[in-house]
Amino acid sequence: MLNITILYGAIREGRLSIRAAKAIHNALQASGQANVTFIDIKDYNLPVMEARLKDMENPPAYLLELSSKIENADGLIFVTPEYNNSYSGAMKNAVDYFTKEWAKKPIGIVCGSNGKQGGINASNLLQLLVLAIGAFPMPYKLLVPELHLSLDEEGEPQNEIMQKNLDRFVSEYLWFAEAISNQKKKQG
Ligand SMILES: Cc1cc2nc3c(=O)[nH]c(=O)nc-3n(C[C@H](O)[C@H](O)[C@H](O)COP(=O)(O)O)c2cc1C
Repeated sequence: MLNITILYGAIREGRLSIRAAKAIHNALQASGQANVTFIDIKDYNLPVMEARLKDMENPPAYLLELSSKIENADGLIFVTPEYNNSYSGAMKNAVDYFTKEWAKKPIGIVCGSNGKQGGINASNLLQLLVLAIGAFPMPYKLLVPELHLSLDEEGEPQNEIMQKNLDRFVSEYLWFAEAISNQKKKQG
């Protein structure tokens, strides 16, 4: 069983992209192939990063908790809305706190917007961020256009295309995460 952590990066009041985070959470759990941990960045009230965790003398407990949730994951899924053609600032801020925790993690990318493009710009930039932290971005991404129409409040797909894309994303991600996890096990 893979340990997969979802990192959800919108903290805006009334955030619609929580639907995308719920959709991926539900689908991964339903696969029966993953233990899923959900990190909602909003719960942490993270200050703007002034020092990385590794450079702190007395790190706060909440950062140590986040660090071990990342470290213990076989893989992660980043979920973010598109803001001004990019991922959310809250997501970037959270990512910047950590260093070695990200090394060689398989990372899936889920982006959404209330427009028709489904956060494609955010997703492309997020792949670059994943490369910058020494992790592996999965090539296939899940884009959620018209968040309010594609998914209901519980993250349930509202049309066939959304369901198909979600299913494909989950199956590709499980393959990708397992391949990397198996290679790590082989090397001990
Ligand atoms: C600051 C800000 C910038 C935004 N920029 C974009 C954008 O560049 N492209 C886009 O498709 N939607 C953009 N949107 C709309 C979001 O896609 C929309 O709010 C959607 O519901 C997802 O964000 P949410 O989870 O905060 O609701 C923007 C929204 C905000 C608040």
